[in-house]
Amino acid sequence: MTNQPGVPSFPHRHLLAIEGLQPSEITFLLDEAEQWVDAGRRARKHDDRLQGLTQINAFFENSTRTLLSFEIAGKRLGADVVNLAAGASSLKKGETLLDTALTLNAMRPDVIVIRHESSGAVALIAEKVDCPVLNAGDGRHEHPTQALLDALTIRRRKGGLEGLRVAICGDILHSRVARSNFHLLTALGAEIRAVAPPTLMPFDVERFGVTPFTDMDAGLEGADVVMMLRLQLERMDGAYVPSTREYFRTFGLTRSRLAAAKPDVLVMHPGPMNRGVEIDSAVADDIQRSAIAEQVEMGVAVRMACLDVLTRERRGDSR
Ligand code: NCD
Repeated sequence: MTNQPGVPSFPHRHLLAIEGLQPSEITFLLDEAEQWVDAGRRARKHDDRLQGLTQINAFFENSTRTLLSFEIAGKRLGADVVNLAAGASSLKKGETLLDTALTLNAMRPDVIVIRHESSGAVALIAEKVDCPVLNAGDGRHEHPTQALLDALTIRRRKGGLEGLRVAICGDILHSRVARSNFHLLTALGAEIRAVAPPTLMPFDVERFGVTPFTDMDAGLEGADVVMMLRLQLERMDGAYVPSTREYFRTFGLTRSRLAAAKPDVLVMHPGPMNRGVEIDSAVADDIQRSAIAEQVEMGVAVRMACLDVLTRERRGDSR
């Protein structure tokens, strides 16, 4: 790496997961993202540091905000951004995935952003290509930039993460967002509660250093931050919940249920939201408490930071 002496570096070629990152490396990325929040609020948002570099966004699973966010991030940094949106039905098998990796690599990209429905697929592709790879979500494994943008949102609103009580609620079993957040928020000293019905709670959830709650009201008690998760019906191959109505009655976030949390509680959701399933509109649209739109804004800043940091070595740049 070509970082200046004394400046904490990010000594990784790829960003595949939060697990394994040092707290100082996470903080480094968050600090780097701050400048891009400011830049994004200016009328002219452009920076040329990725000029001449090719960024491929290869999304083998559907996405709206993450794909758009990575595209905007790359364009604001001056990269040539190309999107490959492949349907979820193709490219599932090992050989085909490796062929895809070789094809992408042959285009000589400078950075590849990948979303894939299979856990571990992004890491597999990363082994076969000659440029940095960013994981934009792989199966139920990890979604590192989502956890980074969540952390940036919380840090800016609450001034820090240490000692905060964060309740992550809903479909934890299928959620890569929850996994990345477990790793990140515990690394930075927050107290994490995993709140879910027994059918949607991973049996080994405690290995993440979080406390499980199967009662929503108990789980929300005294929370500084409540992070709601979407019911990932597309990943369910059986009956995990009786009905969405019943789910809302027992695990939906309503104003009255939120009263158990701290008065200045921050409400978050990675999107897409299912109103009336995991969250009530009155809570989602409460401008005092909801940080949902801010999360999207922080997403662009965090992705700009990650694209910049991971391409520094190949640019021979120490910025
Ligand atoms: C999440 C994802 O794709 O994992 N969404 C996102 O990236 N903003 C969560 C979800 O799909 O529910």
